[in-house]
Amino acid sequence: MAINPNNSLKARHISYCGASGAGKTVAVKCLALVGDCAALFDPYGDYKLSRLKKLSGLGNGRIVHHYHTRRGFLKAFTEAWASGKKFAVAYQPQIAEDKLRAEAIWFAQVVWAAADGKRELHAVFEELGRYVESSGAERSKIGEIVTGGRKFGLIGHYVFQRPSEVPKTILGNCAEYVVGAQQAMIDVRRWVDELDCSIDEIASLDRLNTDRHKHFLHKKGGIRNYKLIEIRF
Ligand SMILES: Nc1ncnc2c1ncn2[C@@H]1O[C@H](COP(=O)(O)OP(=O)(O)OP(=O)(O)O)[C@@H](O)[C@H]1O
Ligand SMILES: [Mg+2]
Repeated sequence: MAINPNNSLKARHISYCGASGAGKTVAVKCLALVGDCAALFDPYGDYKLSRLKKLSGLGNGRIVHHYHTRRGFLKAFTEAWASGKKFAVAYQPQIAEDKLRAEAIWFAQVVWAAADGKRELHAVFEELGRYVESSGAERSKIGEIVTGGRKFGLIGHYVFQRPSEVPKTILGNCAEYVVGAQQAMIDVRRWVDELDCSIDEIASLDRLNTDRHKHFLHKKGGIRNYKLIEIRF
């Protein structure tokens, strides 16, 4: 059970959105927005060591340890969290697509149970669109992290391709948005509304991108508080 509620903590949840290949996973790895203690739900194993040094692990090369079973992940996560040291552990269940949501909710419950208002715990939900049910309310623990996790030190990182496939509970409660190249006008319009930027600013992201150079609009709390950022790797 989450302990030590601290109402002075601010909501710091972050959404990362862009078409496939826009660089969302690269952004989670390289922007260093994920803090020292991190649990990841990583259905594709995207955070396993990769061949590019900069993209290995999380935040300047921190190794992400992967576990394929609930038991393995739970043990590693519990020990890492109790150690008081930096860590990044990922749960990559090996199960059928239709069971993915249940595993994601279990992961969220584990994170919630560990939460402590005296310490920050970051929870990354990769490929969110694969295991949320609608763009309506998200009433599971996945949603509760974003609505109620703030005072328990939880910071959710939600990674998805299209805003239209993500619950409004999550989209509406993030304090930061990392918006990459989009694939559909309806999605562009959603982000134009959120950022109060121009259609052209979003459309230009795809034109600027190359294989190893990705661009995003990064909005931090506050109206119109966004800027163009880039990652080279
Ligand atoms: N380890 C890597 N080595 C070389 N290039 C990479 C590596 N990881 C990513 N890239 C390049 O960066 C691009 C963006 O990758 P990234 O995985 O961040 O996309 P994404 O937005 O997360 O897409 P998806 O929604 O499909 O997961 C890829 O298309 C690829 O060109
Ligand atoms: Mg990805």
